[in-house]
Amino acid sequence: MKNIFKAGILTISDKGWRGERQDRSGEVIRGILSQIDAQIVNYDIVPDEKNLIAEKLIQWADKDGIDVIITTGGTGLSPRDVTPEATLSVVDRVVPGFAEAMRLASLKKTPMAVLSRAVAGTRGGCLIINLPGSPKAVRECLETILPALPHAVETLKGRVSECGTFE
Ligand code: MTE
Repeated sequence: MKNIFKAGILTISDKGWRGERQDRSGEVIRGILSQIDAQIVNYDIVPDEKNLIAEKLIQWADKDGIDVIITTGGTGLSPRDVTPEATLSVVDRVVPGFAEAMRLASLKKTPMAVLSRAVAGTRGGCLIINLPGSPKAVRECLETILPALPHAVETLKGRVSECGTFE
């Protein structure tokens, strides 16, 4: 039987939080995650505030038992962009490969890919991955890393002892 993992989508956007912008990026994440064995159990929008983002990540990882948290937004260079800093303040291990793969794939689509400071890491048994904010960027980045997600969760949970069979 396949293991279904619990996913959370956290949109980070001042405008989205104030209700001034529809969260199309969150909807794109929901659609893409439905292609794999993910059950979306948490969803929220928070403003670009480091403490609020960090609090939400801790709550979802530690209390709600979420396996994978996908964030969108706040990874760029504008003064309000603090998602990577909030994420790094709560993870205990950084997993550079996710961000490396996303930027590599994204650079084939746009030179602006270098502007995303997205990071990924683990907090206990929870994997946290930042995506940029636009629906287009979300699609391009998430589709790149999607095939690795189920195996990442299984490995993180200690349910995989042999990785050699994966291509
Ligand atoms: N990555 C992909 N794949 N496609 C994109 O269109 N946009 C870039 C970059 N990464 C983009 C992308 C742009 S324009 C910015 S400013 C940064 O992501 C940061 O976006 P954010 O501040 O909304 O997180």
